[in-house]
Amino acid sequence: TKQKEPELPLFFGWFLLPEEVERIKCATMDFLKTLDTLEAFKEHISEFTGEAEKEVDLEQYFQNPLQLHCTTKFCDYGKAEGAKEYAELQVVKESLAKSYELSVTALIVTPRTFGARVALTETQLKLWPEGADKEGVAPALLPSVEALPAGSRAHVTLGCSAGVDAVQTGLDLLEILALQKDGKEGTQVEMDLGTLTYLSEGRWFLTLREPITADTTFTSFSD
Ligand code: A2P
Repeated sequence: TKQKEPELPLFFGWFLLPEEVERIKCATMDFLKTLDTLEAFKEHISEFTGEAEKEVDLEQYFQNPLQLHCTTKFCDYGKAEGAKEYAELQVVKESLAKSYELSVTALIVTPRTFGARVALTETQLKLWPEGADKEGVAPALLPSVEALPAGSRAHVTLGCSAGVDAVQTGLDLLEILALQKDGKEGTQVEMDLGTLTYLSEGRWFLTLREPITADTTFTSFSD
């Protein structure tokens, strides 16, 4: 008799421990509060509001995700390409329920998403699926993305604007990294947390002076 296949999850990823979530939320919300008061930000406010002069409260603008995490593989219950292969990897199986310390090195804000860039270690990269960086990337952006180091897309979604899906955060991050690589940085502002850079069309990138670390557990998630 054929055995029933084990079910595949919605996705695999590193989940922040509850006590870490509060700390990261506080630090990142403080940044949002400061960002929307900066003159440099106000100059580009229409990229968020569609109108000049109108104010925006970024804390209200972004809706918080339920559980903070860094996705490794989006499986969509087996419908995503390579889902089964990923779930069956030895390294994936033996890493489940293990602890990992993630390092957040930058924050991004765009009219669509608010996210934290994660710098993966060599060990963590072993859980990063091959080709994950370029999945769903627009053809025009592909050459730039292929030139970035593996794991460049790794991030934690901290918020999305109304009607935007979380998958957008990784795409926004890649676009920003590609623009940076091409030397397309605009205005720079020194903040307490680090250096804030403007990258056109409402895209902001904060390079943290000190990385923010967060304790996580690697696990699968199903709704
Ligand atoms: P992210 O990892 O950027 O936060 P959803 O709730 O939309 O079903 O998504 C569940 C999680 O899987 C989210 O964390 C989301 O984005 C991620 N995700 C959704 N779709 C994709 C995709 N096509 N590729 C990679 N990650 C995805």
